[in-house]
Amino acid sequence: ERAEMEARVHDIKKELGTALFIPGHHYQKDEVIQFADAVGDSLQLAQVSAANRQAEHIVFCGVHFMAETADILTSNNQTVYLPDMRAGCSMADMADIYQTERAWTALQELFGNTIIPLTYVNSTAAIKAFTGRNGGSCVTSSNARSMVEWAFTEKPRILFLPDQHLGRNTAFDIGVPLDHMAVWNPLTDTLEFEGNFEDVQVILWKGHCSVHENFTTANIKELRRTRPDIKIIVHPECRREVVALSDDNGSTKYIIDTIEKAAPGSAWAVGTEMNLVKRIIQQHSDKEIISLNPNMCPCLTMNRIDLPHLLWSLETIMAEEAGNIIQVDECTAAEAKLSLDRMLARAD
Ligand code: 13P
Ligand code: SF4
Repeated sequence: ERAEMEARVHDIKKELGTALFIPGHHYQKDEVIQFADAVGDSLQLAQVSAANRQAEHIVFCGVHFMAETADILTSNNQTVYLPDMRAGCSMADMADIYQTERAWTALQELFGNTIIPLTYVNSTAAIKAFTGRNGGSCVTSSNARSMVEWAFTEKPRILFLPDQHLGRNTAFDIGVPLDHMAVWNPLTDTLEFEGNFEDVQVILWKGHCSVHENFTTANIKELRRTRPDIKIIVHPECRREVVALSDDNGSTKYIIDTIEKAAPGSAWAVGTEMNLVKRIIQQHSDKEIISLNPNMCPCLTMNRIDLPHLLWSLETIMAEEAGNIIQVDECTAAEAKLSLDRMLARAD
């Protein structure tokens, strides 16, 4: 059955040629990645989607916010599909536009016109549009540092949403003290901060990635005791304490590149999504690579995209049936594009 499905995907790809483009995020399963025309992290996939003017059909193997981003960045005669509509992102779901507008009003009252929004691409199109119309920019984990530096040239304060950990880790990296960071709690509409409001430089939205929060300081301490030789590298969506105790941290692409360059025989514990860790293990048999958390699971929503869903999506295109089309309304897309373009203009 699997072989039949694979053969059919190959046939459809051949038949559609360059009219079909399949971007695949690094966290996707191997059974899907084998068919991707481009594999990358969220920044790379945003860049290749923006650059592609040929493909009429873009079947996005990733999660909902990534497909929305592709739809915003591509032209009107290109259609973006998500093979399974249940492939969402629990982090993106932690900030809805109503909560965000309420937060913005309250923060303007507290701090006046001194704040710029910075939004991780792991967010809905509506939040990206909010960011665009308020002068802010998107960021990804690959460019968060340079985007935070840019934001401080615009305004003295940043509202960073929806991932508190990426925001905290990045701001800390460029020298913002932890006690100058406040947390906005969208469930209670309150600012969590002890100290003088004048000192607040970064306001972190209280959201997180349920995958990367599973790496703990206990995992690190256990490894330091049993394997003092092993190097620990984690994604900045991990908590501050975890990043602080690790040897290195960076985006998905940074992790892949670092292990690629590492000396043969070196040993690494990796704190990121499991489909990717498994692939890194397979690709580097000359190095010892393990997951930082031995009980780690893949990202469940990324995993919703599998071979049957990919094939189903392609069959809807072949049959000219309405598939899972992702279409951001024009008004939202135009404002969201402002925030994406501000990021892409500064990305390498
Ligand atoms: P990057 O692809 O930017 O590393 O983000 C990781 C992630 O969690 C994607 O959902
Ligand atoms: Fe969202 Fe985390 Fe899954 Fe990425 S790994 S899609 S941030 S839940």
